[in-house]
Amino acid sequence: MNDSRRKLHGTWASRWTFVMAATGSAVGLGNIWKFPYITGENGGGAFVLVYLGCILLVGVPVMMAEVMLGRKGRMSPINAMKSITRDAGLHGAWNSIGWLGVIAGLMILSYYAVIAGWALNYIIEMGSGTLHGADGPEASALFADLLASPKKLIFWQTIFMLLTMGVVIGGVTKGLGVAVRVLMPLLFVLLVILLVFSAREGDFYQGWTFLFSFRSENLTWGGVLEAMGHAFFTLSLGMGAIMAYGAYMPEHAPIGKTVVTVAFLDTVVALLAGLAIFPIVFANPSVSANAGPGLLFETLPVVFGNMPGGLFFGTLFFLLVTVAAWSSSISLIEPAVAWLIETGRCNRITANLLLGLIAWIVGLGTVLSFNVWEDHRLFGFNFFESMDFLTARVMLPLTGLFIAIFVAWLMKPAEVFSAIGDDPPVLLTLWLRVLRYLSPVAVAVILVIGLYKTFF
Ligand code: PFF
Repeated sequence: MNDSRRKLHGTWASRWTFVMAATGSAVGLGNIWKFPYITGENGGGAFVLVYLGCILLVGVPVMMAEVMLGRKGRMSPINAMKSITRDAGLHGAWNSIGWLGVIAGLMILSYYAVIAGWALNYIIEMGSGTLHGADGPEASALFADLLASPKKLIFWQTIFMLLTMGVVIGGVTKGLGVAVRVLMPLLFVLLVILLVFSAREGDFYQGWTFLFSFRSENLTWGGVLEAMGHAFFTLSLGMGAIMAYGAYMPEHAPIGKTVVTVAFLDTVVALLAGLAIFPIVFANPSVSANAGPGLLFETLPVVFGNMPGGLFFGTLFFLLVTVAAWSSSISLIEPAVAWLIETGRCNRITANLLLGLIAWIVGLGTVLSFNVWEDHRLFGFNFFESMDFLTARVMLPLTGLFIAIFVAWLMKPAEVFSAIGDDPPVLLTLWLRVLRYLSPVAVAVILVIGLYKTFF
């Protein structure tokens, strides 16, 4: 059975291709756009420390569980969960883990493509010199112009969706596998080039201090919640992506070691992105490091536009953002594509076109929420914000919670250990304990407090 399942989608060429694919999924807008600005908003070093704790105590254990479930089921998250619950004689309601994940993936893709489209737009704006010598108000006006134009936003969103579908149509081995083997090294090279530029031209000392000095007075409970939510988002957890990628993983590769490598690389990229961005920001005293979401698209263009060589390196920077987003977006659509193929009604091309179209249409809601629908709000959220809230604050922690409970409380430990591979037994026992007692409590607290704070 497992063999025929494996043949349906193919497998990664090696454990390393899995590492690159999962790192590609994990490293995205979350690392380069969101992590630096939420670190800025929450006061730097203390936030970074809490975030690292969340990655270690919740992110890594849940990620191991997801990969294990994927590899055990060897199918899309929906069918993998179906077969695992059936084999274990558990209630069919646990299949909702697969469904929630696949639907959340498509919802995230819908807005992810719009924001990645901004980065594509800025490659052109930087490369063509529009931002040369720009000051703060000029850069803000350029960004506001982009957001005010549905036509422009839809154009870039469409290009990004086509890039994503182009890779996924090629399949696991030839499409995703090849793409990550090209994109991930490119991402690291670009990051290193930008780091060198930032260290030479920026205020490295101040950037470093900002990121790593411990200012606990700036860390609030809201910041802790944000750190935990972000740990989930950045490791692509609770959305089927990692489970789907686990389904294509070689049989005996040790999951613990592999997942720790992915989490380590993801964290390194987030920190390096911070170290590339903040020294550049501090090089220009007229801008602020606490600009929130606008840090990347309003603050950085001003700084790049006024530095020697800044236009060239600014173009590379937005290329980096695009590459990171691209290798993530393919993992957002793959779980649903794999499922549609398994239903036997579609081949890979049709499945891609259909699901890509759905994500594109839903994405139009996000496009319009920056302009025409800006004032259409539900509970204070516009369309984009409600998508973000529903996925990042509700569906993703909920799926993560279900996964932790399912693996640590409902599956038989012997079955779990035999599925997880060849890691040292002491560490695996520790992992299962953490997944049993710590991760679910932490996730449940986040979920409840997050919802409470939003509505009351
Ligand atoms: N981890 C990605 C990031 O940090 O940008 C976002 C993401 C990709 C989330 C894929 C979920 C996912 F399935």
